[in-house]
Amino acid sequence: MTQQSAAGQVVIPHAPWFTQDRFGMFVHWGLYSLAARHEWVMYRESISVGEYRKYFEHFDPDLYDPREWAAAAKNAGMKYVVLTTKHHDGFCLWDSALTDYKATNTPYGKDLLTPYVAALREAGLKVGFYHSFIDWHHPDFAIDGNHADRDNPDAFEINKTRDGAKYREYLHGQVRELLSNYGQIDYLFFDFSYPEVGGTASAGTKFPGKGRADWGSEELMGMIRELQPGIVVNDRLDIPGDFVTPEQYQPAGAMVSGDKLVPWEACQTLNGSWGYDRDNLDYKSADLLVRMLIDGVSKGGNLLLNVGPTARGEIDARAHEALSGMGQWMRVHGRSIYGAVATSLAPPSDVRYTRRGNRLYAHLFVWPFQFVHLPGLAGKVRYAQLLNDASEVAMMVLDPGQEAGHMTPAGQAPGTLTLKLPVQRPGVAVPVIELFLNDESELP
Ligand code: GLC
Repeated sequence: MTQQSAAGQVVIPHAPWFTQDRFGMFVHWGLYSLAARHEWVMYRESISVGEYRKYFEHFDPDLYDPREWAAAAKNAGMKYVVLTTKHHDGFCLWDSALTDYKATNTPYGKDLLTPYVAALREAGLKVGFYHSFIDWHHPDFAIDGNHADRDNPDAFEINKTRDGAKYREYLHGQVRELLSNYGQIDYLFFDFSYPEVGGTASAGTKFPGKGRADWGSEELMGMIRELQPGIVVNDRLDIPGDFVTPEQYQPAGAMVSGDKLVPWEACQTLNGSWGYDRDNLDYKSADLLVRMLIDGVSKGGNLLLNVGPTARGEIDARAHEALSGMGQWMRVHGRSIYGAVATSLAPPSDVRYTRRGNRLYAHLFVWPFQFVHLPGLAGKVRYAQLLNDASEVAMMVLDPGQEAGHMTPAGQAPGTLTLKLPVQRPGVAVPVIELFLNDESELP
């Protein structure tokens, strides 16, 4: 489903925007936002469906305004947003005809997806849905090791009454609703398959896992392509999708399947939790997040950065701070990110390269003293500037045989381009040098 271009980068042919846009917002929001201690709270604390109902009965996000989410995403430099239509707890944010367990039956009483989709479109952002395969509420979803009720001693007996085919029908029916009733949907993130590892029951017996046969993945994919031909679909259906989804880690390099490069998107949290987590102090700094974004793009990937709005519907101050820090950097450095691809030219340590046409971007994770040496670029660059203020950066090619000492650094490998930097590091999260190449075809 992907194509490898001559330059070695990958695109999704029916959705070239995906590898162009590079940066999106993930939004985890639902009943777990009231518990405010991780979206797996029902599982972690083995809360029964009955006990969990208190969140349903108190769900009333009076401050929900998706135009504010869209503005926050846009100001951060994000180009698409992906919202949890249903997470593992089974609660649905839209007015599904197939369940009562939905926003319209809570005190809030309204569908949450219609205004979300409208707000994104108005802001010019691409529209994404996340949808959970796992469902701890549905009576036909068999209990397994990923289920909130996994420790129930009667789990195996209960499972005899559960009909996987009915759950599959429900799943397909809901996806059909989501892809039929909200106009064009650009992106779909399913979560998740575990065909081999079903987990262990309290009595020590193994549960079967769940995968393509349980979800009816082939048929589901067929329906999706028919309803939304332009959509991109992730890789967690236990059959190949359009892109792969490393979660909460940065891949070591470009991602491959067999010997082919594949489009990829790292999903990352601000603090280790996807859902709103009130007492969590583990926030990543904007500087670190910017480096994560750059690191991903330098390896040909996207970043889907998560926020977990509060139960009142707002993105909280800590998340806003991270987003606006990223936005400050993106405002001046976006051209090293959007539409940029990986290059196989090896960067020196603490430098990440991205490339767009005849421009190469050197992102300096560490500010060196005066000189930075770029192997393999001598004679290939016609002009260099700092990207934040377009101020010229002096270039030189040192004589490899030159003796060390006296004012200029000597002894670089042949073919190395040396840049002379100001002593003062620019006051941005990550300084970037924009290199104008003589000829883009010279770069791998
Ligand atoms: C995991 C978790 C989940 C989160 C998702 C995001 O699979 O189950 O809570 O929604 O990753 O990628």
